Amino acid sequence: MDFNSLVLARQSNRSYIDRSLENDKLVRILECARMSPSACNAQPWHIIVVDNLELKNKIADATSEKVLGMNHFTKLAPLHLVIVEEAANLTSSFGSWVKRKHFPLIDIGILAEHICLAAANEGLGSCMIGWFDEIKVKKILNVPSSKRVQLIITLGYTDQKTRTKIRKPLDKIVSYNDYRFISF
Ligand SMILES: Cc1cc2nc3c(=O)[nH]c(=O)nc-3n(C[C@H](O)[C@H](O)[C@H](O)COP(=O)(O)O)c2cc1C
Repeated sequence: MDFNSLVLARQSNRSYIDRSLENDKLVRILECARMSPSACNAQPWHIIVVDNLELKNKIADATSEKVLGMNHFTKLAPLHLVIVEEAANLTSSFGSWVKRKHFPLIDIGILAEHICLAAANEGLGSCMIGWFDEIKVKKILNVPSSKRVQLIITLGYTDQKTRTKIRKPLDKIVSYNDYRFISF
């Protein structure tokens, strides 16, 4: 798939079919994650592959919210990737402090998109999940309470058709040589 088609194929998939994911596909996706750029090459992340059915279902429960009706689909996915933020190296941490920008969060966002694009390239669906009970997730996976779990990504074969993306038009998000933000 060429890159532009891949970008259009990647979408948040909230429905998965009952088919397990081949290990070679998973390893290729994880290799793409490993190649992600990060500030000062700090690589401030750890990825927990949750493919044990019981554990995965517990994580899925920790992502779903009854009142708001959020994330009930996560149990359908055969596998979850749980992204833990790790300490950045000294140069990145110094940069974060001087520039008052938490680079690891940016780094993890890029890592997550590498994973989702790689998944799309393997013919798989994915969805980034930012809404979950972090304390529960940490307990289930023995993540130290001092760490942050920043994202969960569901992975699996999906039966969803590719949707047309709903996005702001280019002229509302880009300006040339001057700041000109046009709000809706
Ligand atoms: C940081 C982040 C957190 C997200 N959290 C959730 C989530 O908890 N549940 C969900 O269904 N989608 C979640 N999404 C998916 C977005 O809703 C989705 O990317 C957006 O609506 C654009 O749709 P698309 O991914 O299909 O192009 C999240 C996306 C990002 C980048």
